[in-house]
Amino acid sequence: MASRRGSGSVTLPSGQTMAYHTRTHDGDELPHATKKTMADHLRKFEQLFTLTPQRMRMIVEAFKETLALGLSQPGQIVPMIPTFVFGYPTGQETGEYLAVDLGGTNLRICLVTLQGKGEFEITQSKYRLTEEQKQGDGQQLFDFCAQCLKTFIDTNYVDEDGKSTLSEGQVLPLGFTFSYPCSQERIDHGVLIRWTKGFGAGDTEGRDVAAMFNKSVDDLKIPVKMTALINDTTGTLIASHYVNPRTKIAVIFGTGCNAAYMERVGDIPKIKNLGIDDDAEMAINCEWGAFDSFKHEHLPRTKYDQIVDESSNKVGEQAFEKLISGRYLGEILRLVLCDLIDEGVLFLGQNTYKLETPYVLETAFLSLMESDPTDELLMIIGIFSHFFALDTTLAERQFFKALAKLIGRRAARLSACGIAAIVSKKNYLEEGCSVGADGSLYNKYPHFADRVHEGLQDIFGEKGKNIITHHAEDGSGVGSSIIAAMTKIRKDAGKYTHV
Ligand code: BGC
Repeated sequence: MASRRGSGSVTLPSGQTMAYHTRTHDGDELPHATKKTMADHLRKFEQLFTLTPQRMRMIVEAFKETLALGLSQPGQIVPMIPTFVFGYPTGQETGEYLAVDLGGTNLRICLVTLQGKGEFEITQSKYRLTEEQKQGDGQQLFDFCAQCLKTFIDTNYVDEDGKSTLSEGQVLPLGFTFSYPCSQERIDHGVLIRWTKGFGAGDTEGRDVAAMFNKSVDDLKIPVKMTALINDTTGTLIASHYVNPRTKIAVIFGTGCNAAYMERVGDIPKIKNLGIDDDAEMAINCEWGAFDSFKHEHLPRTKYDQIVDESSNKVGEQAFEKLISGRYLGEILRLVLCDLIDEGVLFLGQNTYKLETPYVLETAFLSLMESDPTDELLMIIGIFSHFFALDTTLAERQFFKALAKLIGRRAARLSACGIAAIVSKKNYLEEGCSVGADGSLYNKYPHFADRVHEGLQDIFGEKGKNIITHHAEDGSGVGSSIIAAMTKIRKDAGKYTHV
């Protein structure tokens, strides 16, 4: 069968221009048989990746039991971590705070000025983390955080003549956002349970990361005091509530995925012995990414999900997160494509070696594919041609777009299951609530929020409309600072000073 080639160029949202080639077959756009095959394949993947409302409701039930178990006993797979963040902010917190945010992709240093009345200003610097830093020695990773913090202070606390504006002996309060599961005994302490999101820095799991960070800060004699170690979800809950008091749940859908909400201390049986009033409220960092880990009883895993898991640095762990978060969606699609290449269905007669490297197909590509508005699917042409040196037929491109949609939609509907579990545990359905959401998937993946809302309605019916997600405030910077402020106010007032 003869084929024709065409070429052109397409501009990516980043402004980068990519040249491309297309491949169409002689005569008709595509021979009828090929079209049929693609449609058949699509049907198979529709079955694999579609979650029915009934299945979602079963997942929600299992999720609820898991949340309850995590609250009642220490050391559970979904650890439901008490954070020692007591209640919501009043909105009147004021002052200047530093925040160090060690996330999945970047390190950020922020200076936040809380102005009260739910208002704030922020100055920040961002540093990209290298793979060596993520996998190297743990203490060196914290040394890097401290070095960046020192540079930030040296640059931001100077007058026009370059002299430090800090007074003798002044110590700046700091919130440290460390977005990995840490079990906490106090607010300024946290033992890393396990790395997630592909991190693997050695000699860190099982150790108090707050102490490791403090050591790096002390070595460089930086004039700061870390007053709170927080998770990004807890920060998001607090920051979102600071500006929108209807917020009752916070979720992150980014490189990783997780949620936090406020719980009555009396309903956290595992901390009964700490002498905190039953009616006090404390934020819980769920670490729900671990739901269904190891046993794999409840989530619908395809063979592609199993490969993602088995080839990860943490086999069996973060089972929920591996179906949802931005770190994995591109890889799931890549594995499907590789399977179809092996079956001789895609990219016939072309060298596909560039697609064979794990994680080359980033989740951002799925976003671009899904949002390609052109009939010819020019963006998809560009992606495959530019990054993988592959020509595509229109039928292939339509198939890729449909696949991206299936994988993105499944992620959003599973996310809805997690939110629904917290909503029903806390009885928020009748009165409704806002869910502060953040992360690249939520913010950039087309239709993600709509699909979460659709999922909530599939689970709860009409009442699902009472639960609305909205783009959250910056939890890791602003939230961290508000928590540092709340902690200072609490301790100054002599309240629960032992935690
Ligand atoms: C981490 C959580 C974090 C989430 C979102 C997960 O991998 O375990 O602590 O909140 O990613 O960043």
